[in-house]
Amino acid sequence: MITLLKDKHILLGVCGSIAAYKAADLASKLTQAGALVDVIITPAAEKFITPLTFQSVTGRKAYTEADLWGGQAHILHVGLSHATDLLVVAPCTANTLAKMAHGLADNLLTITALAARCPILIAPAMDVGMYTHTATQENVRILTSRGVTFAGPDEGRMASGLIGKGRMLEPADLFGHIRLILGKTGRLAGKHITISAGGTQEPIDPVRFISNRSSGKQGYALAQAALDAGAQVTLVSAPTGLVPPVGASFIPVNTAREMLASVLAASHNSHALLMAAAVADFSPKNTSDQKIKKRDGIPTIELEAAPDILGILSTPGYTQPKPKVIVGFAAESRDLLENAAEKLRTKKMDLIVANDISASDAGFGVDTNRVTLLHADGSSEDLPLLSKVEVSETIIERLATLLENN
Ligand code: CTP
Repeated sequence: MITLLKDKHILLGVCGSIAAYKAADLASKLTQAGALVDVIITPAAEKFITPLTFQSVTGRKAYTEADLWGGQAHILHVGLSHATDLLVVAPCTANTLAKMAHGLADNLLTITALAARCPILIAPAMDVGMYTHTATQENVRILTSRGVTFAGPDEGRMASGLIGKGRMLEPADLFGHIRLILGKTGRLAGKHITISAGGTQEPIDPVRFISNRSSGKQGYALAQAALDAGAQVTLVSAPTGLVPPVGASFIPVNTAREMLASVLAASHNSHALLMAAAVADFSPKNTSDQKIKKRDGIPTIELEAAPDILGILSTPGYTQPKPKVIVGFAAESRDLLENAAEKLRTKKMDLIVANDISASDAGFGVDTNRVTLLHADGSSEDLPLLSKVEVSETIIERLATLLENN
């Protein structure tokens, strides 16, 4: 369950394209996240997929052309579009796109789209020649100028065998675009939040580095939760293998030094900084240009202090513009609250998220976390064992309150 999606009414229009089968996956993802998904299948889409497919994944009726002429005929399109938070047309063919651009209303989907007063998201799917045709491009321009959002299409191999732009975005990406639209008016709308994530890698030579067990999951979940709340997000990330959330400006880094430069640059115009990254405290003093060979014997690696990013931001000598609210993290294996409180104070944070990494269901690598939130005003909050997604949603709520009170 995702709070942003819970009980949201999403109307999914499916057109006649081979990508229609992917729309079933999208409907399933949205339903699992808590949304109420109604589906309209165009007559051409019925050739590719059946209403039963959608009903099976959404647990709700999927409408076809036959419903336009059914018992509730004349009000169905109005009812469907008015009770909706978002109309998603995925896949959207060149034909439906053209009809929507010109206000044609000749089937249940296009009638509903014309009656709709909610935001509209279109995921085009068509052959490259059709997509790049001036007529289609002009239709995209018309719809964009009316506030319709487009997601994709992607470049890639098409059903025709041609390679080019025209593939429907993957359901996971579309899901991200849907979240962006639904979150737009959230508590963090208009706020720029910088979030760091992952464990930095400090090179010893071209193939070896010193790093830590941070998976980046908490930082990425925070970035998604901030986007869900309407924030503009910059995600500065050490290597994690995770996919950055749709809508975040992504800045990949490797070392603590690179993270320092990127975080400071992004912090200039950020309202808040969330330092979820596990930044190295030490890095090799010298990095060998060449791979260190075994035959040369066991090397001694001399370490030096890596830059302490929050430490630098909190020194009185730091005079550059900096975020109003700073949230830090403390991963501790002992004396959790004492150590976290000390970091909160010395690094002048507004909030610190303390987690005990000695527990097997909290901290590094796992999907759950049990944290205590310590505020600068001395108050604290013990959260129960939650998914990292839920922990993130709670932290973002607290962050919004801090920004509102600041
Ligand atoms: N941090 C940082 N720069 C570093 C190390 C940590 O900005 N070089 C940030 C982390 O992102 C985190 C907070 O400081 O938000 C606390 O990090 P942690 O590693 O727990 O604390 P340290 O101050 O490094 O103390 P120690 O390693 O001794 O526990």
